[in-house]
Amino acid sequence: MERPAWVGPDIDLSRPSPARVYDVHLGGAHNFQVDREAARRIAEVMPDLPRILRANRAFLRRAVRFLVDQGVTQFLDLGSGIPTAGNVHEVAWSADPGCRIVYVDVDPVAVAHSRALLDGVDHATAVHADLRRPEEVLNHPETRRTLDFTRPVGVLMFAVLHFVPDEDDPAGIIRRYLDATVPGSYFALSHASLDGEAERAEEATEQFRSRVTDFSMRTRTEVGELLAGVELVEPGLVYLTEWRPEPGDEDPDPKRTSTFAAVGRKTG
Ligand SMILES: C[S@@+](CC[C@H](N)C(=O)[O-])C[C@H]1O[C@@H](n2cnc3c(N)ncnc32)[C@H](O)[C@@H]1O
Repeated sequence: MERPAWVGPDIDLSRPSPARVYDVHLGGAHNFQVDREAARRIAEVMPDLPRILRANRAFLRRAVRFLVDQGVTQFLDLGSGIPTAGNVHEVAWSADPGCRIVYVDVDPVAVAHSRALLDGVDHATAVHADLRRPEEVLNHPETRRTLDFTRPVGVLMFAVLHFVPDEDDPAGIIRRYLDATVPGSYFALSHASLDGEAERAEEATEQFRSRVTDFSMRTRTEVGELLAGVELVEPGLVYLTEWRPEPGDEDPDPKRTSTFAAVGRKTG
């Protein structure tokens, strides 16, 4: 099997990873045959997936820009993925070059790429950690060096919580991150959902679980429950392309994005 120079010997190329499958759908170059095969099989049951992922990236761009407009200049991007064009630091720096960003991902390939991209930059960094262990992420020396938790932080979980099953208490995980932040901080998420389409949701979940990793489609109500600790900004919890679309982002059928999006202000 091919093993490019940028892939260390510790990286398992025999199993697909969510970050690389996502990269396939975005048309990126950081993936292997095993990822391309998984991506193809998943696209068979979710033919809209490439379009959904592009809509997710467009939401990321609008949400980060919105947060910078609210005065947020620090970001903790959990489940950040492989840094493709239009990543959080690029969006944030285009609005305010002083922004500070910590990328966190459990996939060593995603982290290796993020580090290569950020080499020599002192106010953005990549941490290899599991977001389900908030204390490890929050106390990581790179996190502490980069972010000042006495000032507002934007906690971002884009397209990642559907990889966290209910047993791991996703609502509790979000709470622990928000508890570490001061008032004026924000939380933004996007989350896969085939709300009202139980059969397709089950099929897509099965494809992901058998080919890539654990996967939890949640209904709109269930995603809403994850947002209990924040006060949602307008337009609330909506499909990706309905969240403050800009010219070119609109979609005649937002439900086809099969992904909910929201941004909220920390309460309490
Ligand atoms: C679909 S990608 C989303 C990437 C990026 N956030 C975006 O929206 O464009 C999901 C990412 O979450 C990462 N991930 C999944 N479970 C994770 C966990 N428990 N801790 C940290 N990262 C995780 C995967 O490795 C993958 O890179």
